[in-house]
Amino acid sequence: MKVEKVIEIDNLRFEILIDTERLQRRVRELAEEISRDYQGRIPIMVGVLNGASIFLADLIREMSIDCEMDFIKISSYGNARVSSGEITMIKDFSADLHGRDVIVVEDIVDSGLSVQYLRRRINSLKPSSLKFVSLLVKKGAAKVELKIDYIGFEIENRFVIGYGLDYKQIKRNLNAIYQLVEEK
Ligand code: PRP
Repeated sequence: MKVEKVIEIDNLRFEILIDTERLQRRVRELAEEISRDYQGRIPIMVGVLNGASIFLADLIREMSIDCEMDFIKISSYGNARVSSGEITMIKDFSADLHGRDVIVVEDIVDSGLSVQYLRRRINSLKPSSLKFVSLLVKKGAAKVELKIDYIGFEIENRFVIGYGLDYKQIKRNLNAIYQLVEEK
């Protein structure tokens, strides 16, 4: 979707936070870092649906090593703008993660509850290694202690949309990240 400076929807006003060029540059850097760290191995990149699908698709195409891909879906916020706190599995892994190098790909880490849930669940499947990459991490929002191995951008604790992130399920196909600046 064409990049506009401002998006107005319902009574909300969003402005560009990270433009397409910055996004692409950072995705390339993350891909290079991961490719270096996993040289000689074939990690499984596990995208967390729906939001991470766009980031994952761009990330793996910038990687210089082979990788596999898989997707999971865990309970979503629905149309709410804050996390409900309860996590359930909606679509489980397809690949066998036992003995594999697993990299979970998230679009955003907010409360950290999704990452905490996924870490426990994946560790119970006995992977050889487990790391997390997130395009965005909200500063000061984590309710649990967490370690994200590769971070694209640390952002303020504001509602964001675009590049996979939705407002009531739409706007995921915006080619930049926008943040909520005003509610009328
Ligand atoms: C978002 C995001 C993460 C999670 C992060 O997904 O993709 O999976 O929330 O929040 P947390 O750190 O507070 O757990 P969402 O549930 O909105 O689903 P979606 O990707 O389908 O929009």
